[in-house]
Amino acid sequence: MTDRNYRMPVTINNEDDNHPSNPSTGPAMTDLIAQRFSRRTALKGLLASAALGAIGVGSGAIRPAQAAMDLSFAEIPHAYDENLHIPAGYTANPFLRWGEPIIAGAPDFDATARDAAAQAQQFGYNCDFVHFVPLPEGSNASDHGLLVVNHEYTDAHMIFPGFADGKEALAATTAEMAAYEQAGHGLSVVEVKKEASGWTLVKDSKLNRRITLATEFELVGPVAGHDRVKTSADASGMKVFGTMNNCAGGWTPWGTILSAEENTHQYFGGDPSGTAEAANAKRMGIKGEPSYAWGKFQDRFDISKEPNEPNRFGWIIEVDPYDPASTPVKHTALGRFKHEAATTVINSDGRLVVYTGDDERFEYIYKFVSAGTFDAAKGRANSALLDDGTLFVAKLDAEGNVTWMPLVHGQGELTEANGFKSQADVLIEARRAGDLLKATKMDRPEDIETSDKTGKVYVVLTKNDKRKADQVDAANTRAENKWGHIVEMVPPMVDGKADHAATSFTWSAFIQAGNPGDAAQGAAYGGAVTDAGWFANPDNVAFDAKGRLWIATDGFPDHGVHDGLWVTETEGEGRASTRHFLGAPRGAELCGPAFTPDGKTLFVAVQHPGDEDGSNFATPSTRWPDFKDGMPPRPTVVAITKDDGGEIGA
Ligand code: FEO
Ligand code: CA
Ligand code: CA
Ligand code: CA
Repeated sequence: MTDRNYRMPVTINNEDDNHPSNPSTGPAMTDLIAQRFSRRTALKGLLASAALGAIGVGSGAIRPAQAAMDLSFAEIPHAYDENLHIPAGYTANPFLRWGEPIIAGAPDFDATARDAAAQAQQFGYNCDFVHFVPLPEGSNASDHGLLVVNHEYTDAHMIFPGFADGKEALAATTAEMAAYEQAGHGLSVVEVKKEASGWTLVKDSKLNRRITLATEFELVGPVAGHDRVKTSADASGMKVFGTMNNCAGGWTPWGTILSAEENTHQYFGGDPSGTAEAANAKRMGIKGEPSYAWGKFQDRFDISKEPNEPNRFGWIIEVDPYDPASTPVKHTALGRFKHEAATTVINSDGRLVVYTGDDERFEYIYKFVSAGTFDAAKGRANSALLDDGTLFVAKLDAEGNVTWMPLVHGQGELTEANGFKSQADVLIEARRAGDLLKATKMDRPEDIETSDKTGKVYVVLTKNDKRKADQVDAANTRAENKWGHIVEMVPPMVDGKADHAATSFTWSAFIQAGNPGDAAQGAAYGGAVTDAGWFANPDNVAFDAKGRLWIATDGFPDHGVHDGLWVTETEGEGRASTRHFLGAPRGAELCGPAFTPDGKTLFVAVQHPGDEDGSNFATPSTRWPDFKDGMPPRPTVVAITKDDGGEIGA
């Protein structure tokens, strides 16, 4: 998803971050901040600069130099234009574009025709999360596999000819347009091969699959079959059609893909106020002002008619990419909110831990810990681990401690007196449960990744320009945070292995994004960064096989620079010292990133190219990647390879 503040004020807005929906009064942190400043001062002699002292990550001084890192590419400059920029010696192949036929018999993309049945067999819109799954299954292949891609949302005024902006397109939406939008959402599974000429898709592969709003899902876990997920169309409360606003995601040790349903509130029209779900709807941001007109054509997207339908979205879903006939599931034990990511790790004791954040201003970081342990011999049956376990929400204090607080019905505040009659209620209203436990309100938790090398956990906070000076805390130190930051969590070690299931971690700031050359921004890096090395608005991140962290951005155009990709070490001299690798075409945010197992291909997703102030189907700010008259810009997955065949970045 993107933040549209730098674009025209259209009605369609894939976030609702101008209207945070968390009304709870969290812990007053001012005194705690003072404590943390004091502690840092004593320990490190910092505090010459309040911003730097608060996070203690280093000098942050900008210098025209780079920290020593095991990276050999020539850093690219900041820019903002129609091109995708990569370092010399690399090739970018935009090979998987919106509308590309992937299912056998699918028609070719047509620049103007908008047929829902065709779109349901073609690559969807606005690619976000990307993951490469080797073929054959169980191999470590890096030249043949399946790409699993999320299609987060659709932009009507960029897709359909004839509308000045999103507001006009919304008002004029027909049933046919709504059907096309629904077919453009969901996921694609596409067989891909690395040929001598570069990466290509295998167009009619039997493994290719589209998942859309029409795909049947099974609701599993504690909420399955509960009254609050039953609807006129589904008396069982277990059968849901579709997934939407799939943002980032993750993968499991048993070969499946997890995908995060994020801003699902914006698809529901109708007035929630007269329904039994009114308070729940409000906390999720559903307020009768949808960004899509689907409720005009299908009662399930009108909350006044089907008040339980929204409770069937906002989950982590699981898809088996190797079995196109499989029924995907929604795992309710992981809670319902605006999920961004789902990062799994097999804990030192064999339990499965999943980190996931809620991407909205002032929302929370969560993790799920399974009750059972992973057993490789059980294969796909390990999926049941995601249905029985404990969901925790994080509190980050000024002493550098993370306390993971269990969201368990009957414990603490999560009682019937507070409106939770069962664990299903706690999970459906996970946000309100987090409010009652006074979890730490973060600056929009986006992706979370764990380092295989160190066991440390990196939580990406994209920004929060609504945070007031009296709302800053130790983990979110800047009022009107326009730049975002990355927090590093450290689990305790048990016999040399990280204990991700522990309820106490420590944390510290890793990077405070922004321009360290402008002291007013309070940016801080681990060491030297060049004029091109600083960035803002981190969103998706990925580790490569060497343990380096690759950071994609969403919102840097607000600061006059293309979104793109930066990379840093997390340990040693190059720690938290980012270097600029890739720049996206104008109007786009950068998603993915994902590597092949050999580290020689990097896949990135260019989302909503050309969508910016004044753009529409007729007048996009770029026609990347086709650059043909009449052809709209197309969200596209790009394969990046090194011309000498070596590892990316090496
Ligand atoms: Fe869909 Fe939070 O980015
Ligand atoms: Ca995102
Ligand atoms: Ca984002
Ligand atoms: Ca990631």
